[in-house]
Amino acid sequence: MTNNKPLVLMTHELPEDWVGELLDDYQVITGFNEKRGLDSRLIKHLDKAEGILCLLDDPIPAEALERAPDLKVISSMAVGVDNIDVAACTRLSIPVGHTPGVLTEGTADLTVALLLAVCRRLPTASEDARQGRWKNWDPTGWLGMDLNNSTVGIVGLGKIGTAVGERLASFGARIIFNNRSPQPEKEKKLNATQVELDELLRTSDFICLHAPLTEETANLINEQAFQKMKSSAILINAARGAIVDTQALTRALKEGWIWAAGLDVTDPEPLPPNHPLYKLDNCLITPHIGSATFQIRQIMANIAIENLSAGIKGIRLPYCANPEIYT
Ligand code: GLV
Repeated sequence: MTNNKPLVLMTHELPEDWVGELLDDYQVITGFNEKRGLDSRLIKHLDKAEGILCLLDDPIPAEALERAPDLKVISSMAVGVDNIDVAACTRLSIPVGHTPGVLTEGTADLTVALLLAVCRRLPTASEDARQGRWKNWDPTGWLGMDLNNSTVGIVGLGKIGTAVGERLASFGARIIFNNRSPQPEKEKKLNATQVELDELLRTSDFICLHAPLTEETANLINEQAFQKMKSSAILINAARGAIVDTQALTRALKEGWIWAAGLDVTDPEPLPPNHPLYKLDNCLITPHIGSATFQIRQIMANIAIENLSAGIKGIRLPYCANPEIYT
C-alpha cells in the first residue's frame, strides 16, 4: 500500500481486454467476484479510497461514504443507480457516474425478445418439441397472443421505453404510455397517447415497465394493479424487479388474473432457484441480461472507467447521475 497512485476499489473483476491500460494510473483493489457490495477485501481500504467502481447490484449505502473521507467519485457500470445512496453522495458533493444511452437499443431488443417469447410461448413450445410432445400439427396447439392490433402500455417513456415503443409500433401495436412528465414530442413520434396509470393497466394487452426504481415506483405493480389488468394481459419487466410486488405477481399468474409475464429483473435478485415463479409455465425469467452483448458491456466498462478517471481528476463526469453537484 505504499505507492502514490490514487486508490480505486473495484467490486468485480473486468476482462483485461476491456480495461487495457485504462486503470494503469490507479492502485486497484478488487473485491470477491461472488460477493456483492463493499466486501471484506474492500471495506478495510475505504478510508484511503479515492474512487469506487461498482456494478448495479453492489449496495453503496451512506455509511460507506462516511468511512471514505477521500472519496472523489463512485462510478457504476450501469444506467440505473438505485443501489447507490445518490442523495447522500450529492450532500457530500461526490459525483455518481453511470452509463446511459449505450444500452438503450440492446435493452429494447431484449424487451421485445422477451415479449415475443412469452406471447408466442416459445419456451413451452421448444421444450414440448424436444420432449417428443410434438405429435402432429395441432390446430389448437401452443396458441399465443397477437402483437399486431394490440395495445402496448409502456410505464416510463424514457430512452429505453421509447426505443421499445418504436420497435413495437412497427409490429402493428398501438402505443399508450404513462410517464411522470408530459412527452408531446415522443407522443407524436410514436403516434402514442399518454394516459393515467389506471387506464394503462385496464386497457393494455402488453404492459412493459421501463421506469427507474424510486420511492414512487417501488411496488407500483401490486395486487390492486394486477386486479385492474385484463386476464389476457402480459407483463414484461426489464427495468427493476422491485417495481413489481413479487408475491402479488406469483398469485396473479397462478390464479389467472393475467395471462403471462416475462421478467429480466426480479425481486429479490437473483431469484432463488426454488422460487415458485420458476414452476409456472406462463412466466419466463432471464437473469438481468438487458445489456448483455459483447459490444455493449465493453462500452459500458469503458464509460465507467472514463467517469471514474474524471472524478478522481476532479473534472466533470461525462455521464453523471447527480449533475446538481456541479451547480
Ligand atoms: C441495467 O439494468 C442497468 O441499469 O444498466
